[in-house]
This record gives sequence, C-alpha cells and structure tokens, in this order.
Amino acid sequence: MTAGNERRIGVIHGPNLNLLGRREPAIYGRTTLAQIDEMLRSIASAEGYELLTVQSNHEGVLVDAVQELGYETCGIIVNLGALTHYSIALRDALAAVPALAVEVHLSNVYSREPFRHHSVIAPVVAGQITGLGPAGYAFALRFLIDRANSKGESTDAGTGSTGSPA
Ligand code: DQA
Repeated sequence: MTAGNERRIGVIHGPNLNLLGRREPAIYGRTTLAQIDEMLRSIASAEGYELLTVQSNHEGVLVDAVQELGYETCGIIVNLGALTHYSIALRDALAAVPALAVEVHLSNVYSREPFRHHSVIAPVVAGQITGLGPAGYAFALRFLIDRANSKGESTDAGTGSTGSPA
C-alpha cells in the first residue's frame, strides 16, 4: 500500500452492468450504473474517502483494474457479473492484491439459474452480498469504510482475511 491508499475505495463493475436501468429491469431494477456510482461517491465523500470506479465488459481490463485498485485502495467492491461464475483470472487477481474485497450482486443469484449459484470469487473475498439491489453496494461500502477506519485506529483490528469472520 502506498501513502493515501487508506482513504480510497474502489468499485469494479463487470460485463453488462453498463446497461443497468434498461437491462432486464424486472431482475436488475431501473437504477443506472451512474446512479449507483453517484450514491456510493456521496457516501464515501461524506466519510472522507475517495471513490475510484471502473466498468468494463472485458475480462483482461477487469484483471488490470483489480491489480491497479488492489494496490491503490484499501478496499474494493466487485460485481463481476457473469465472470463471477467462471473467471479464475479474476479470482487469482483478487487473491493477489492486498485490498480487502467484497462481492456484490444486485439480484439474488441463489434464487436464479443453477449456473449462477457458484462463485469462483467468493472464497477470496471478505464476504458476499446478493439480492439487495443497489443497497448491497452501500452496505459493502459501509463495511469497507468501517474496516478501514478501525484499522486506522488500531493495528490489531484484524485483517479481514478469508476464513475468519468479518
Ligand atoms: C449479477 C448476477 C450475475 O449472475 C449476472 O451474470 C450479472 C449480474 C448481479 O448483479 O445480480 O451480470 O452479478
């Protein structure tokens, strides 16, 4: 981590999330990606954090984003869309970087098709929020801010590494 990273949080949006608002609204709602980012940016800035956001439909660009934000921020929110279910490259990237990550899904992936029930990302992130719509991102952001704030106050506040409760 370089200086200042402890006041920065990243958000990485995967394939097709740029279509939010007009993509299958019965499943994903009417909120656009810009509105989600704006909501998160206002929560972050009220807490004194800078928000860095990336959206891409390309796996390699997302790997680059995880590598970059994984060192430049203290925490990352990821919704990797369909890549959640099979991208070992993204799983490996998240496992490689020091930033704590939270996986978010707008829809409840466990109430949908069986191929959405498995996340290759879940084992390498602190936790997963699924089915709460845009509010899931806000909860993830609050968790990452709380964790960063408590880390700033105490060096033995826990690492949030996988395998231990958040
Ligand atoms: C999603 C769920 C994924 O299964 C799907 O491929 C998406 C969106 C969600 O936010 O609910 O693109 O990640």
